Amino acid sequence: MNEQQKACVGKRIPIDALHEFCTEVMVRHGLTPDHARATADVLVTTDTWGVFTHGTRQIVPLMNNVDHKAIDATAQPEIASDGPSWAIVDGHGAMPPASGVYAMDLAIEKARRTGIAYVGVKHSNHFGAAGYYAVHAARQGLIGLSMSNVDVCMTVPFARAPSIGTNPISYAVPVRGENPVFLDIATSVVAISKVLTAKAAGTPIPDNWLVDENGQPTTDASSYPGTGSIVPMTAHKGYGIAFLIEVLSGILTGASFLSGINRWIDPEPKPADQGQAYIAVDVDAMMAPHVFADRMKKAVAEIRSAPKAAGHDRVYLPGEMEWERRDDAVANGLLLPDYVLMNLFTVADKNGLSDRLIGLFG
Ligand SMILES: NC(=O)c1ccc[n+]([C@@H]2O[C@H](COP(=O)([O-])OP(=O)(O)OC[C@H]3O[C@@H](n4cnc5c(N)ncnc54)[C@H](O)[C@@H]3O)[C@@H](O)[C@H]2O)c1
Repeated sequence: MNEQQKACVGKRIPIDALHEFCTEVMVRHGLTPDHARATADVLVTTDTWGVFTHGTRQIVPLMNNVDHKAIDATAQPEIASDGPSWAIVDGHGAMPPASGVYAMDLAIEKARRTGIAYVGVKHSNHFGAAGYYAVHAARQGLIGLSMSNVDVCMTVPFARAPSIGTNPISYAVPVRGENPVFLDIATSVVAISKVLTAKAAGTPIPDNWLVDENGQPTTDASSYPGTGSIVPMTAHKGYGIAFLIEVLSGILTGASFLSGINRWIDPEPKPADQGQAYIAVDVDAMMAPHVFADRMKKAVAEIRSAPKAAGHDRVYLPGEMEWERRDDAVANGLLLPDYVLMNLFTVADKNGLSDRLIGLFG
């Protein structure tokens, strides 16, 4: 970053301005305005949740995929086959957040007619934070689930090499008068982006994140990608769930799976051919809406009333920390970490938009 760009460190940027900037960058790389806006919404929303590893920072690798035609800037997702409560969508290599919103909207529409619907997407790429799509369903009153398979980078118990992806999964449930409860996680001990962030910063990582080529713990983030593999979340449990995600996102959709997936963050990426799965459950079809809402309120209250551990005065529902960070970002603008700013200025420089981006910081 140059001196003017460095002066933006520690300053906040309004979320609408960041959204507009990201949309402009993507349109300049050939995306349709609709797909650019949909993608900017996923990335900026993810930043507002404080999940900076998967927010606007990813505009750099995403645009690299567009420039290498690994993501098709103008392709439109379309239904390849469907029934009353399911569909397989061909992403045609289109921008994954656009395919994701299209697929979840389709799942919602079908679930409203049938109670529950599954929509799988093939020929996709990196869709970012799984939570965005699950919350999209919950905002419309349905329970949403979203998940994706990912290029292999995670070991499985008793293996010493990458054998499966860090396959993320999210669910979101509407709560009357509040933001949805939502969980959004990788099935690895942490998302691989956290390893890459430590690698870029040259800092060691905890010794339970990666194993080396002998399957032994290492704190060396620079061993990934290469000899290091990330470890599944709580061993066989994360591995077992990652395998289910592989089935629903990859095997059942007709996308590539396991070692067949190309790594989207390669400098010269090929189409990743990842798959995603979206599930919508229409609670109104199964229970009177006010009964479900009352029961959720009771469940949420019971969790909140849990006896607190020493040194703690509250517990959190899944997603609650993210909603509190979002409230702050909406009210005061986003305080982006340096590594995110670096990526934003990289794309800004490339597109002659650096002065414009500098001007957006308060
Ligand atoms: N697309 C991809 O290839 C890919 C791959 C892996 C991960 N990801 C994304 O990476 C992101 C980060 O994943 P991660 O595994 O590092 O997440 P994480 O370990 O930070 O867990 C985050 C989740 O746990 C909940 N949580 C955290 N502390 C809590 C507490 N005390 N009480 C209740 N809930 C709590 C949060 O609300 C959130 O839902 C996710 O958005 C995920 O979708 C994407």
